Amino acid sequence: MVKIEAIIRQNKLEDVQEVLNDLNVSGMTVLDVRGMGRQKGVTHTYRGSQYTMSLTPKVMLILVVLESEVDSIVAAIQEAASTGEVGDGKIFVSQVDQAVRIRTNERGDVVLH
Ligand SMILES: Nc1ncnc2c1ncn2[C@@H]1O[C@H](COP(=O)(O)OP(=O)(O)OP(=O)(O)O)[C@@H](O)[C@H]1O
Ligand SMILES: [Mg+2]
Repeated sequence: MVKIEAIIRQNKLEDVQEVLNDLNVSGMTVLDVRGMGRQKGVTHTYRGSQYTMSLTPKVMLILVVLESEVDSIVAAIQEAASTGEVGDGKIFVSQVDQAVRIRTNERGDVVLH
């Protein structure tokens, strides 16, 4: 099992949801977050000679999926979330050791579908 964490623009959420629905994703978690990338936020505020980094509102999607689904899901999110401008976001992929469906006590891959 693999965890996909995608940080995207707020106004791209619906487009991304649509492609994920087409791919039959079985579940996801969506969070309102704030963050910065290498531009450290768009507007820089001078405080004397120092910059204050600004945190931009973003949306984060967390999905745990089967190994076999990772590539297509990452590609779909990337395409749907892209504008080509700075601040389009990032996708992080990591391994997941275990999953439990609380109601049934099922474990592992079966929990995902
Ligand atoms: N290294 C990181 N770790 C965790 N979150 C990050 C990281 N880099 C970016 N993010 C998150 O992704 C959001 C968007 O980042 P952003 O797309 O601006 O990255 P970037 O590296 O500056 O790329 P670009 O040059 O395309 O803007 C940030 O607001 C932050 O929430
Ligand atoms: Mg950036």
